Amino acid sequence: MYSLRVIDDSTPDSTHSPEAIDLADAYAVKTPEDSRRLYRQWAKTYNKTFIEANSYIYPRAIVELFATHVPKLPALKVVDVGCGTGAVGSYLSSLRPECAIDGYDISPEMLAQASLLRRSDNSAVYENLVEVDLTGQLPQQKFDAMTSSGTFTHGHLGPETLLALIDLVVQDGWFVVGVNAEHFEARGFNRAIDSAVLQGRITAPFIELVDVYGPGSPHHGDRAKVCIFRRTNGHE
Ligand SMILES: C[S@@+](CC[C@H](N)C(=O)[O-])C[C@H]1O[C@@H](n2cnc3c(N)ncnc32)[C@H](O)[C@@H]1O
Repeated sequence: MYSLRVIDDSTPDSTHSPEAIDLADAYAVKTPEDSRRLYRQWAKTYNKTFIEANSYIYPRAIVELFATHVPKLPALKVVDVGCGTGAVGSYLSSLRPECAIDGYDISPEMLAQASLLRRSDNSAVYENLVEVDLTGQLPQQKFDAMTSSGTFTHGHLGPETLLALIDLVVQDGWFVVGVNAEHFEARGFNRAIDSAVLQGRITAPFIELVDVYGPGSPHHGDRAKVCIFRRTNGHE
């Protein structure tokens, strides 16, 4: 299931060229429509000008934590929320090839990049790539586990969306979800997570602080809190 909307790109919607888009532009996003617009322009250059140029090591850290905490079960169904061009899926499919991975993202252009990724056996990294605004109505699918890097950050998804996304995972399923550390504090993710624990929806989280960027990156020192927990009851 991969839907690509036709978008009129004839009107440039940023004063930047795609090569000049950077972290400040991403943090300046305020609405889902801003995200659609930004990532429409950034999709083709994102891997080079963001991932490579900034030594962006966060997706690898997420996958390593996933591999440490989530048991190796056959045919585990995983959803990568805000999958973008597919960095998490790429690492996950090589470290845990038994996982069937779906990617959810608001940007059809980012999903188009993710659709190009292949596993070592030449099958697609992502089984399904779904265009969805995660702040709106969610698909009906259920997954055994959820991952995310770079999407719970300034201007992007907040704690209320994390709470809504719990419903995408089956009872006893796993979450390995990164949240930018400043955004975590500023938006009160701890309160949202505590409330879900108190309501018996999830286990108390294990929170791991990781580097988002490697040494030498202009942004080295930025951290993310990776929240690892399980769903404890189901409203299925
Ligand atoms: C910084 S990128 C991270 C992409 C990828 N996970 C990575 O680590 O490289 C943030 C992604 O979140 C997506 N996004 C932003 N707002 C969203 C929303 N409301 N619903 C779904 N995806 C959204 C963007 O389209 C973009 O692909």
